[in-house]
Amino acid sequence: MIEAHSDTSALGLYVHFPWCIKKCPYCDFNSHPLKAGTDQAVYLDALLGDWRQQYGSFGKARIAQTNTGQIESIFFGGGTPSLFKPQHLARLLEEVPHQGAEITLEVNPGTAEYHRFEDYQDAGINRLSIGAQSFSNAQLARLGRVHQRDETISAVAKARQAGFSNINLDIMWGLPGQSVAEALQDLRQAIQLQPQHISWYQLTIEPKTEFAGRPPILPVDRVLQEIEQAGLALLAEAGFQRYEVSAFARTGYQCQHNLVYWSFGDYMGIGAGAHGKITQGPKIYRTQRPSQPRLYQQDSQTTKLTEIPQTQRTIEFMMNALRLLDGVTQQSFAERTQLPWQSVSQVWQELVDLELVRHDRCATTALGLRYLDSVLERFLEA
Ligand SMILES: C[S@@+](CC[C@H](N)C(=O)[O-])C[C@H]1O[C@@H](n2cnc3c(N)ncnc32)[C@H](O)[C@@H]1O
Ligand code: SF4
Repeated sequence: MIEAHSDTSALGLYVHFPWCIKKCPYCDFNSHPLKAGTDQAVYLDALLGDWRQQYGSFGKARIAQTNTGQIESIFFGGGTPSLFKPQHLARLLEEVPHQGAEITLEVNPGTAEYHRFEDYQDAGINRLSIGAQSFSNAQLARLGRVHQRDETISAVAKARQAGFSNINLDIMWGLPGQSVAEALQDLRQAIQLQPQHISWYQLTIEPKTEFAGRPPILPVDRVLQEIEQAGLALLAEAGFQRYEVSAFARTGYQCQHNLVYWSFGDYMGIGAGAHGKITQGPKIYRTQRPSQPRLYQQDSQTTKLTEIPQTQRTIEFMMNALRLLDGVTQQSFAERTQLPWQSVSQVWQELVDLELVRHDRCATTALGLRYLDSVLERFLEA
């Protein structure tokens, strides 16, 4: 059994890098095409200012409450943070107390030639999350990716040679015109590369993306269901344990950083558009930085703080925790939301009677996971 992050005191740090070589038509993340002349040193300065401001105003006190006195996980996400120079990452890490932390870098295989993996390792990165997406060159072109399948295969090899032994591959399924056989072929190829973790996301069409404006023809529901069932079986057979709706890991390799999110833990967020979540006494806050890199670089130190009201905490907690196959303890609900379990126990019992959730843990049953949206709806009213 995979136990979700049970240390309520644990704290994560998310660092956002808001540029990509080019924008993918399906992507609604805060990412902008990288223009010639973008000065990475200016962005590093903004990040350092951001970190120091948050560290001074609440980070230091919050870190002191952790069991380890350290930030337990750091995630460099994007955008394409593998465009960021390794020495810049190293400079930032110098200021962050991070002994023993899992430190992940998202890598777009199309940038594997830009910087050496050895240098990222020297900077302190110990986990790579490589955006493979598909191993079909035709699909990669449709998805507007800047890389081809061979570049992903060679990025994994180079990462291994550099000494990385904790690698995730992001794969998407339900791609335009994709057959069951094609989706499974992508998974087989991913498994063959022997990563420690696979994130297997169903492609969604997000509002305001290029795909929303000119929707591609996606597989029909019957094909999607077949892909999902066969894909889950394939991953299980290959020894990847599903621990979250879209996350599969070999034993001991669950993504610690994502476990912080899914268990409604606290994390600081620095970088353009980065979000954080911080508990201070009885209050829980979200932090947010300006999304536009230009505005962020002008002023990276004004934090927008929004309190998560008590009425909102239950649904936010459930939307995260119930994505974990094994959920969390009921005690963890009380610790993280600062609400008594009794505030949801009646709704919970009704869901237990419908066999949608477990009686002993804050977790769904297999049936409940299939109807997760309906389960969550019940907490909108709770
Ligand atoms: C923030 S992206 C960053 C990774 C990196 N920039 C890259 O694309 O290689 C993280 C992952 O989210 C997934 N993703 C992004 N948009 C998606 C969408 N519309 N539907 C499903 N998965 C998506 C992709 O698998 C992607 O690798
Ligand atoms: S490379 Fe990643 S973050 Fe950038 S646009 Fe594509 S999916 Fe989004």
